[in-house]
Amino acid sequence: MNLQNLHKRPLPAQPWAEGEKIPWNDPAFSQRMLHEHLTQEHDAASRRATVIKKHIKWIHNKLLAKKPSRILDLGCGPGLYCAELAALGHVCHGIDFSPASIAHAVKTAPANCSYTLGDLRTTEFPAGFDLVLFIFGEFNVFKPAHAREILQKAYAALTPGGSILLELSTFDAVEQMGNQQPSWYTSSGGLFSAGPHTCLMESFWDEDQSAATERYIILEPDGQLTHYASTTQAYTEDDISSLQKECGFGGVAFHDSLTGQTSESPEDFFVVTATK
Ligand SMILES: C[S@@+](CC[C@H](N)C(=O)[O-])C[C@H]1O[C@@H](n2cnc3c(N)ncnc32)[C@H](O)[C@@H]1O
Repeated sequence: MNLQNLHKRPLPAQPWAEGEKIPWNDPAFSQRMLHEHLTQEHDAASRRATVIKKHIKWIHNKLLAKKPSRILDLGCGPGLYCAELAALGHVCHGIDFSPASIAHAVKTAPANCSYTLGDLRTTEFPAGFDLVLFIFGEFNVFKPAHAREILQKAYAALTPGGSILLELSTFDAVEQMGNQQPSWYTSSGGLFSAGPHTCLMESFWDEDQSAATERYIILEPDGQLTHYASTTQAYTEDDISSLQKECGFGGVAFHDSLTGQTSESPEDFFVVTATK
């Protein structure tokens, strides 16, 4: 793709065809993304500390009934949840493929926290956990076949009676994502490039596959054009419940949010727990 033939790009973009997600695992991108995780100005990459504390309270008090537990956090980012849970006496292990996030998590880890830099699609999960966390909608940003394999590996990582806590984007939120109007912005330096650039964005909703594809085209002043795409799979409650059961889980239960309550300004996520 280049600027001159941009008009020839495939329309609509097909789910998963142009890449699976934004380049979380690219070292320079992950360094810039770490800033977005840690900022207290927005909740885009990780929630702000005040929100995370509310989530931790619910997980610790309600889900784990304050019982010291072994917790596996999938897509743990910079370890913000692991660190808080470890402070309450839990033993935590996080897996993420962002080098800068894992470096930050390791650097700030309390004694009972450990991390693996690895891709959830290919990394073997350690075993013996009471709880597997997979939050903030990242489950949706895997091809359905990979999502299923990750659930199967999560099941194997749990002790009998252990639980999985998934936080997914709602079907409506994914559909809305796919139906956004094209837009663009200029920046003197940001997530997609450290230097000045223009970002062109367009989105597509695939009704048949219930998937939203977002395309990002980054234009640099020297004419370099970089193209990223990310596809998000929409799941209904029935879809996810069936998938959990097919992976061996029982006791599937839905919750309004990671605080256990319907928030005053509802987020675009729903929470499902299931047990081994
Ligand atoms: C939205 S962030 C959430 C981070 C963290 N769970 C939190 O709430 O603070 C999604 C995380 O998933 C990670 N991730 C995405 N795809 C992954 C993959 N294939 N393997 C490992 N980690 C992945 C990203 O690097 C990122 O840290």
